[in-house]
Amino acid sequence: MSAASPSPLRPLREAPGGGAVVVIDQRALPHRLAFETLATPEAVHHAIREMVVRGAPLIGATAAYGLALALQHDAGDAALDARAAWLKAARPTAVNLAWALDRLVRHVRPLPAGERAQAAWALAGAIAEEDVDVNRRIGEHGLPLLRDIAARKGVGPGRPLKVLTHCNAGWLATVGWGTATSPVYQAHAAGLPLHVWVDETRPRNQGAGLTAWELGQAGVPHTLVADNAGGHLMQHGEVDLVIVGCDRVTARGDVCNKIGTYLKALAAHDNGVPFFVAMPTSTLDPAVADGLADIPIEERAAREVTHLWGRTAAGEVLEVAIAPEGTPAANPAFDVTPARLVSALITERGVVHADESALRALMASA
Ligand code: MRU
Repeated sequence: MSAASPSPLRPLREAPGGGAVVVIDQRALPHRLAFETLATPEAVHHAIREMVVRGAPLIGATAAYGLALALQHDAGDAALDARAAWLKAARPTAVNLAWALDRLVRHVRPLPAGERAQAAWALAGAIAEEDVDVNRRIGEHGLPLLRDIAARKGVGPGRPLKVLTHCNAGWLATVGWGTATSPVYQAHAAGLPLHVWVDETRPRNQGAGLTAWELGQAGVPHTLVADNAGGHLMQHGEVDLVIVGCDRVTARGDVCNKIGTYLKALAAHDNGVPFFVAMPTSTLDPAVADGLADIPIEERAAREVTHLWGRTAAGEVLEVAIAPEGTPAANPAFDVTPARLVSALITERGVVHADESALRALMASA
């Protein structure tokens, strides 16, 4: 794999006022590549809440810069705790947000207030750089799994490895490489013929708008399908493996990810299709055992369900209603796939079973 990945986040240390981060505004893709400069903690909070940036690892790294920016104005203990709690609350489900902010708080608390902002900025940078490396290693650990399945399925010219993914767990959702896409990019770079089924991922269409865009940019063969097509494709032997990302994995291996992931896991189980989850260890929440009972599931605006954004033939990007005016809609943004439906977790430290003892051993190996 080449030595660099595109990234949706770039820190600007020397920006007026003492730092900023430039991010890709993911709401504008795939129709327009737009950037936003986040120079205040409020701008960072807004970007996370409104999904200018999204994806578990990316919101963690962006929030770390947000806390560093906040400390430039007030680095006292009360402000440190209050700002960290406020940023954490921007989105409740992905644990990477809390992971990054807690790490920052632990790092700067012992320091004199006057040194905290600079130390926080440096650690935010380290968290971002680490994420790129972690995801590259997830790709390295995932590649042999893909090669193995390819060998068993007789993959070669005219018979690609058939992959299905849900949502966007690509470089746009991280600081680089992506998680679920990292083994895919590595396999593609290594010349393994593959084809990716991309779920549209209603309601916000991260598959249609983001994953399809990323794979297209990278020249990875792919086909967009409606969310409900996955089971049918699996029944007809059109999927060799499923690989998805995650927002929080519990101590016993339950996987919380974008809504609809559970249905893909059920269909994969019923059809004997391996179901892999790419998991940076920053997404493991050892404090939670039962994913169904204890992971807070973000409930987003009903309007994301009742309306759609798209580009007209004239090039205008606009929102249209798809339901009768006033239709009540519910919008749980994530679901939980029980560990028993997960074939393996692909982490930066290796591939493990989704169970408590394997995860404990993995973390002890640090
Ligand atoms: O609501 P989103 O777009 O932030 O949800 C993103 C996902 O569910 C991703 O699959 C997950 O964060 C993994 S990203 C590497």
